[in-house]
Amino acid sequence: MQAANEQAVAQRQEELSPQDGYDRNKLRTQVDVASMLSDAHFTAEREKVFRRAWLPIGHTDDIPAPGSYFVQEVPTFNTSLLVVRGRDNQVRAFHNACRHRGNKLVREGEGRRNGFMCNFHGWVFSAEGQLDVVTDRRMFEGLDPNEYALIPVHCEVWENLIFVNFDRQPRETLEQWLGPQFFGQYQGYWDLHQKVASYSFEVNANWHLCVNAFTEGYHTLYLHKHTARDYQGGRINPQRHRPHMELMQRHHRYSAPGNPDHRILPVEAIAIKHGRKQLPAFDFDSSMLPPGVNPSRYEYWAFDVVELFPNFVAITGNHFRAELTFWPIDAGRTLITNKTYNYKTRNLGERISQGYFRSRGRDVVREDLSTLEAQQQMLAAGVLPHLVLSKQEIALQHHFAVTADMLEAA
Ligand code: FES
Ligand SMILES: [Fe+2]
Repeated sequence: MQAANEQAVAQRQEELSPQDGYDRNKLRTQVDVASMLSDAHFTAEREKVFRRAWLPIGHTDDIPAPGSYFVQEVPTFNTSLLVVRGRDNQVRAFHNACRHRGNKLVREGEGRRNGFMCNFHGWVFSAEGQLDVVTDRRMFEGLDPNEYALIPVHCEVWENLIFVNFDRQPRETLEQWLGPQFFGQYQGYWDLHQKVASYSFEVNANWHLCVNAFTEGYHTLYLHKHTARDYQGGRINPQRHRPHMELMQRHHRYSAPGNPDHRILPVEAIAIKHGRKQLPAFDFDSSMLPPGVNPSRYEYWAFDVVELFPNFVAITGNHFRAELTFWPIDAGRTLITNKTYNYKTRNLGERISQGYFRSRGRDVVREDLSTLEAQQQMLAAGVLPHLVLSKQEIALQHHFAVTADMLEAA
């Protein structure tokens, strides 16, 4: 019975049907990653991958009211963006540069303002990016303020996720970029939770290594053996094979298997008593979730891992989700942002309960990060001819194949 179940799960993982939308013949089990660590390779990726992609940078509920804004650093393009909700409720993204002499208009953070005043000479821009005030204007002969609005970046919203595109003219609409398997499948999902943690850090590792660390479950038995010993897999799926996997034209998603026999620790029991069990949690009806979440309606579902190519990984659960964004700084450095979301709390007990799961999640992510610089060092040594990838790492195979597709495109 147990063997049959395990076999069934393993088989499902291998059944990537044509509806996946990606030609499996293009996948490679051997990938020469060392050759991808050069400055020249990264420069090509910046222009052909990152500049042509729609890149998620935040959520509309981060900027709930007219004048609400946040600043997002984008080291990949040596810029900083100011993302603002206008008085017309439209969400816009601008290069965060004053049009006078280029001072960074808003240094960092988020908030709400009636206008954005540059602290250098006092020019003021509206929430829609118009230049409203030029101090001592008569000294600027013939200046037309309409010609000095903030420089916009293409910006679109899907569900409540905000995307930007750095191409002069995007080659695809956001809908085309996301594809049919995403576009209509997450209705309401991104509104389910509230943000409970957000932090950023730089890692001395290439961006591919960073993304790859979060899109396979193979490592969880080993790297997380102390912090997340038995949340996944268990008796019915000891190797933690995924019950569901979809490779799309650019993106992919898979489901991680929860362990029905997870042994609850004493401190965890207290957290669950005052709030909701977050992982593994089978106490809800998956049919209430939109079709993109737990797409196969797997009974022992833990969460999904979604890679929105190239640099965004969302871990989508029912009571929680996490969003990791990977901004390459150069060929060997990456700025990572990690945001954690939990169900909306109704009382203090639930907040404290969430604190337990949040700290547990942070320990797990710390372990995920712990291999990156070591891996970078040894790959940069150039002694490995290639990396060898299993079916458990098929999402990595897909990630590299899509990268190659985009680099080969005209
Ligand atoms: S640089 Fe902003 S007002 Fe001069
Ligand atoms: Fe991990």
